[in-house]
Amino acid sequence: MEKTLVILKPSCLQRGLVGEVTKRFEQKGLRLAGMKMCQLTDDVLSEHYAHLAERPFFQLLKDAMMATPVIVCCFEGVGAVDVVRQMAGTTNGRKALPGTIRGDFSMSSQENIVHTSDSLENAAIELKRFFKDEEIFDYKSVSNAFIY
Ligand code: PPS
Repeated sequence: MEKTLVILKPSCLQRGLVGEVTKRFEQKGLRLAGMKMCQLTDDVLSEHYAHLAERPFFQLLKDAMMATPVIVCCFEGVGAVDVVRQMAGTTNGRKALPGTIRGDFSMSSQENIVHTSDSLENAAIELKRFFKDEEIFDYKSVSNAFIY
């Protein structure tokens, strides 16, 4: 089983898509292991997006991520990192395929509804960044018995 981080971005909350996006991951068969609303800060975003510090949109991206609270989620499942990224679609909503979250709900690279971890290694780092150990729950999901 893998665990991965999903951030429901301000664009997701502002457009009332929290239920729709969460529903997709749940219906796919991923187990929701953690979820909380929080207001991100410039400090944590500078760390989270450190690899983009030289990009011209760095501050714009951070400002957009602080426009409203976000919802951070931990989803778990076999191959969860790749499954979640495929469901999100490519970064630019205009290029993301129909059927993906960004393909269905975004026309933008910035206001693209979700952030998803891009590797198992980064998922572990990102989950530590946004969750305390006791905020990730290990309960039995009945539906998993039928999926795997
Ligand atoms: S890139 O351009 O290859 O670095 O893009 P990518 O690695 O897929 O995207 C990383 C995050 O940068 C955000 N992004 C942007 N924000 C604002 N303006 C522009 N032009 C832009 N391009 C990319 C994008 O939403 C990604 O955020 P996360 O949270 O990682 O999904």
